[in-house]
Amino acid sequence: MLIKVAHPFPIKPSEITPEVVHADRRRFLRQAGLATAGAALFGYGPAKSVGAEAELAPLNVARKSEMAGGETVTPYADITHYNNYYEFGTAKEDPSRNAGRLRTRPWSVVVDGECEAPGHIDIDDLLKPQALEERIYRHRCVEAWSMVAPWVGLPLADFLKRFRPTSKAKYVAFETLYDRQQMPETARGVLDWPYREGLRIDEAMHPLAFLSVGLYGRVLPNQDGAPLRLTLPWKYGFKSIKSIVRVRFMERQPEVTWNKMAPDEYGFYSNVNPAVDHPRWSQAQERRLGELFKRKTLMFNGYPEVASLYTGMDLRRFF
Ligand code: MTE
Repeated sequence: MLIKVAHPFPIKPSEITPEVVHADRRRFLRQAGLATAGAALFGYGPAKSVGAEAELAPLNVARKSEMAGGETVTPYADITHYNNYYEFGTAKEDPSRNAGRLRTRPWSVVVDGECEAPGHIDIDDLLKPQALEERIYRHRCVEAWSMVAPWVGLPLADFLKRFRPTSKAKYVAFETLYDRQQMPETARGVLDWPYREGLRIDEAMHPLAFLSVGLYGRVLPNQDGAPLRLTLPWKYGFKSIKSIVRVRFMERQPEVTWNKMAPDEYGFYSNVNPAVDHPRWSQAQERRLGELFKRKTLMFNGYPEVASLYTGMDLRRFF
């Protein structure tokens, strides 16, 4: 994420952009064969051995769906070393360095608000009886880089329905863990913690909305949002909140982190839309990690099946 210079935060666009360019150049050199690519990992093309991550527990995946138009899947090493997870630092390599401190067991998620069966659910109780699914999705960051990742998890709707939302549940709000000891970077006050996100209930119930618990057939590495995160392929990446501890059904639209911080720059909906630029840069194109040339960004990131959610809405106003 890029933060307005006018904001009193310790990071400027000028600090981030060179990092993006630098990382892309490194990847290009690697792809061009000037650096050694590692052996294929789980059959998805080249990836480096990534130490601890490669030892993460395998998941039992019952079904696999390719949902990225047959595009090349981004190497595991890139997906896990080029992250946004500000609780562990604002540079792209910070989460892979620092998120090792996050303890993902025991872990439970509190679900409450406008529902008939509020409660909490232990991550292991959620996973044990669950037939997990793998989905290969495109992932487009608002900063105009993108990737393709094989997530493992379950439809968000399946999770939400367990708690029997009432007719008053018009929205769903999500919260990340906020623990200063495990997340010392939160002491810097870069964002207003805990990280919060939200969806309209029909968006949350859409079959594409996914609750990820794994990546490349194994449990999620911490830097990618272990033990569970949202994956919303038609929205900018910041909607895909990581390490969720709380879900609340609400009658009113919840406050969400980036919109609260910079409402002119980050809307509540945040659908990928090449026709609506960010106030400070174009959204018409994107750079896929590992590729030298930019490519055109697709409306809803190439998932037109969500368009009916927004019929009649002015997507410039509700951006
Ligand atoms: N969730 C939390 N809790 N904190 C964050 O800083 N960053 C968001 C999103 N979820 C973020 C978060 C942003 S800006 C993006 S682009 C995606 O996570 C990045 O996911 P990835 O690192 O797995 O690619």
